[in-house]
Amino acid sequence: MQIMLKMQVAIDGPAGSGKSTAARQVAKQLGYLYIDTGALYRAVALVAVRQGVDLNDSATLANLAKSIDLEVRMQPDGSPVYFIAGKEVTDALRSPEINDRVSQVAKLAAVRERVTEKLQALGDEKGIVMDGRDIGTVVLPSADIKVFLTADLATRVQRRQQELSNRGFFVSAARVEEEVRQRDREDANRQVAPLKPAPDACVVDTTNLNPEEVVSTIVELAKQRAQNRTSQGRNSR
Ligand code: CDP
Repeated sequence: MQIMLKMQVAIDGPAGSGKSTAARQVAKQLGYLYIDTGALYRAVALVAVRQGVDLNDSATLANLAKSIDLEVRMQPDGSPVYFIAGKEVTDALRSPEINDRVSQVAKLAAVRERVTEKLQALGDEKGIVMDGRDIGTVVLPSADIKVFLTADLATRVQRRQQELSNRGFFVSAARVEEEVRQRDREDANRQVAPLKPAPDACVVDTTNLNPEEVVSTIVELAKQRAQNRTSQGRNSR
């Protein structure tokens, strides 16, 4: 199904709430572009770690964020494959090491400014689904649809552990829980663009929903919004 009206869909939420799975499928179903904004913060963290940059060195990290060339190619099933300087980094971006470091990089105001500029330039395209932490609040404050996904901690830990093992990283549940808790804390308490639902976001608890149910909830919201827009347009003529 292709919604002709090109809208902006913002999906935020904590780790393991199911954002990226939902966002990818929603984009596929609507025929929109999917942008995983966490991948950009992860890419900055990955290059910084590989180059031995001090993760408190805000100026160097902001330059990295500005110059980084993260290329994404979509697979036919809608899953993205990422490259930096021609080398594939899809699994490296989501490794336990980067999970541990990314929030430290993402809390720096100078890094966020550079990344947000890049994302807003992409957002101008319309017809996009973006997922992250601050999309509905900061990156696309006028998005047509804002969704904030949540799930209880145990479910989020289980999902994250499964995702890691699918990528060949075998980590204990206790270790994953520690990482998820730590990242929740850092993302929600930072000074710039903390993780929180936008006042006009629709909050969806995905603890007892399967991925298809989450996707259909969001696609339904998009359809309703598109319908309202179309009838408002007709009425104002
Ligand atoms: O998939 P998961 O929810 O674990 O993480 P992600 O969306 O790839 O984001 C990784 C990290 O990047 C988050 O924990 C945040 O620290 C940061 N991030 C952010 O600050 N703002 C965004 N819009 C997206 C990600």
